[in-house]
Amino acid sequence: MSVRETPQIAPAEGKLGVLLPGLGAVATTLIAGVELIKQGKSSPIGSLTQMAHIRLGKRTDNNNPTIKKFVPLAGLDDLVFAGWDIYEDNCYESASNAAVLDSALMDQVKPQLEKIKPMKAVFEKRFAKRIDGPNVKTGPTKMDLAHQLMADIEQFKKDNDITRCVMVWCASTEIFQKPTATHETLAAFEKGLEESNPDIAPSQIYAYAAIKSGVPFANGAPNLTVDLEAIQELAKKNNVVIAGKDFKSGQTFMKTLIAPGLKSRMLGLSGWFSSNILGNRDGEVLDEPENFKTKEDSKLSALNVIFQPEQYPELYGNYYHKVRIEYYPPRGDNKEGWDNIDIFGWLGYPMQLKINFLCRDSILAAPLALDLALFMDLAQRSGMSGIQEWLSFYFKAPMAAKGLYPEHDLFIQLMKLKNTLRWMKGEELITHLGLEYYD
Ligand SMILES: NC(=O)c1ccc[n+]([C@@H]2O[C@H](COP(=O)([O-])OP(=O)(O)OC[C@H]3O[C@@H](n4cnc5c(N)ncnc54)[C@H](O)[C@@H]3O)[C@@H](O)[C@H]2O)c1
Repeated sequence: MSVRETPQIAPAEGKLGVLLPGLGAVATTLIAGVELIKQGKSSPIGSLTQMAHIRLGKRTDNNNPTIKKFVPLAGLDDLVFAGWDIYEDNCYESASNAAVLDSALMDQVKPQLEKIKPMKAVFEKRFAKRIDGPNVKTGPTKMDLAHQLMADIEQFKKDNDITRCVMVWCASTEIFQKPTATHETLAAFEKGLEESNPDIAPSQIYAYAAIKSGVPFANGAPNLTVDLEAIQELAKKNNVVIAGKDFKSGQTFMKTLIAPGLKSRMLGLSGWFSSNILGNRDGEVLDEPENFKTKEDSKLSALNVIFQPEQYPELYGNYYHKVRIEYYPPRGDNKEGWDNIDIFGWLGYPMQLKINFLCRDSILAAPLALDLALFMDLAQRSGMSGIQEWLSFYFKAPMAAKGLYPEHDLFIQLMKLKNTLRWMKGEELITHLGLEYYD
């Protein structure tokens, strides 16, 4: 398909399976939320696919449909959830353990949550050292584990009369990894699966199984997973869409709001210190230095791209950026983030900005996971494939084509997302030039 051609979008007929590796805090908050919204007991706050409008044509046209009316998205009534986890808890038990939602709310969707029991996970403790559980697949090789996942997907589709699926990684962050020769080509990766190469992490096996099954894959955590050349080769070959990585939900969301603002006014930066306290299972996994390193890498990446220190050495050539996450159980999922930002203005005079974000991690992340599931399905039905850069809006460390720097500025990301939707429907793109109003 040429980049200029308006795609043919296949209709969103039948049920959409939403497959979630990791049925923890984010996944169960997503599922419970969708069930509550379907019953009219709550609203989808935080979700663009459910709430946002999109402007079409000129400002004077007053044509602002909702995104969900403008593009053919799957409806919430057509979603069927399933997932894998190393623990045997059903989604009600897991949501109770995560303690994001209060029990009065959860009890209203208890039957729907109890029905979802995790399939056996592909897991290797080496990649998430602080957790261990009994609900794990065994197999002679990693390729065999991939085939077991593909069989799970097929069975789920058959049992639930599903026409299409998407997969959103909501499992724990894996330890820091750099790509090796095994990840360079699909042939090397498949050989690695057959030989159970230790460089192949569980998330990579899920991604392989999803793409082999024609299922789009979005990565909500900072592990490499679909960033690997081998997986991208497979996605292109099988015409499957992929996106990543690491939900941009709390502190990095704030960073990508504030940093472009400071830069837009040519204010300098001498330091940015970000600290977090977090007490959920995610926080416990990230308490392990090797797992934290993966998250740190993803959290650090945004500022350099936004500030372009190479182009603005005087303003951004020498700032100190530090990110800390402290595991602090009393807070549970209610994370607190502090940002101290040292900036300087006219004649070099220093100033400070302090941000204290008392957020709720999974409340922020659940609508992002929902939007990703629906937009990935839309992209797949539109004949798109490979990296979906227009979904950068949702990620801390967005993927981009080789040789291209990723776009981190939230407002550029949103413009790109909306223009992609306009392009999909053959509408004129909005450039914000607006000279025609003054003719
Ligand atoms: N909540 C947020 O705002 C946010 C933001 C960015 C990224 N994330 C990432 O999203 C992921 C989920 O976050 P969470 O708060 O739900 O964590 P969580 O610990 O509550 O849930 C993760 C679940 O994944 C399971 N798991 C671990 N390895 C697995 C495997 N190989 N296969 C199947 N299941 C496996 C764990 O048992 C756990 O139940 C984490 O990686 C986190 O870093 C979350």
